[in-house]
Amino acid sequence: MVDINIVVAKEKLTAKGFLDIAISPELDLFFEIEKLKKEKNAVILAHYYQEADIQDVADYIGDSLGLAQQAEKTKADMIVFAGVHFMAETAKILNPEKKVVLPDLKAGCSLADSAPGYLFKAFRDKHPDHIVISYINCSAEVKALSDIICTSSNAEKIVESIPPGQKIIFAPDRNLGAYLVKKTGRDMLLWDGACMVHEIFSLEKITKLKIRHPNAKLIAHPECEEPILRLADFIGSTTALLKYSQSNASQEFIVATEAGILHQMQLASPGKTFIPAPPDNSCACNDCPHMKLNTLEKLYLCMKYEEPELIMDEALRTAARRPIERMLEISAQYGL
Ligand code: 13P
Ligand code: SF4
Repeated sequence: MVDINIVVAKEKLTAKGFLDIAISPELDLFFEIEKLKKEKNAVILAHYYQEADIQDVADYIGDSLGLAQQAEKTKADMIVFAGVHFMAETAKILNPEKKVVLPDLKAGCSLADSAPGYLFKAFRDKHPDHIVISYINCSAEVKALSDIICTSSNAEKIVESIPPGQKIIFAPDRNLGAYLVKKTGRDMLLWDGACMVHEIFSLEKITKLKIRHPNAKLIAHPECEEPILRLADFIGSTTALLKYSQSNASQEFIVATEAGILHQMQLASPGKTFIPAPPDNSCACNDCPHMKLNTLEKLYLCMKYEEPELIMDEALRTAARRPIERMLEISAQYGL
């Protein structure tokens, strides 16, 4: 018999990308989510940029590499992906037999959107003698057009794994690309894309903040623009920033990445002070609007009704898998 709730849920999903179903405010969502995890043998994988409540119910919280690695090895029947679309898509590419659900199908990524598949194909076709390294923040179409994927945790090692003299295209993030050119000395052809969150930081406000907090370390994600990176005491992926904030003796940190990471930093080092790097806008907000489309309510609903589900074209999935596997193999060789 067809479950009427699932039918209604699917209808409600169509226009919005998430289940718009009223939930009683008296429902203990933390308890319900734990119950659903057991009932459905589900695992919740969450990115550091998710709201604190989602991080608190997640089974694993990590950066893009850690999340892909967890997705690859999970024994769960259902992967509940609290992140953005390209991350859930990566989990599905690695797990065709598993159900992958996400709280909001429309949680996209400005960086991934900056490289539409058809334009990227034309660009790649113009440079047939180049190897293509793509940052994981891209669509499955772009992944399928790439030779190897990287994340900010392994990008340097991936670039260095390409034989010297081999020409390289790096896409889609121009800031991470420029940072890698500087770090590795490889002259790569860069796609002109960027992340709206990491390009918003104000150099002027950060400089002033550093003067007011002379002992604070400025830590920055490599998706930030070059003037911010030049000022930074440490540059790394979200996981690397978190580890640095734990191991470094400094008691104060100015954090130039999405503000969601501060939750784990504060939990790991309760005595330390973490200041979000100020953006160049009037609302003083450096939240990722895509990541923050996910809420605890939507997470609960997607687990309960198993919608929205990530569905992929099989030929595209297979083509996008190989460059991700190459990345995972190289990462394993380096113990990343
Ligand atoms: P990492 O978590 O891999 O550092 O990437 C940051 C990011 O912008 C994810 O969207
Ligand atoms: Fe995309 Fe930037 Fe948001 Fe990450 S923080 S999901 S790169 S828009």
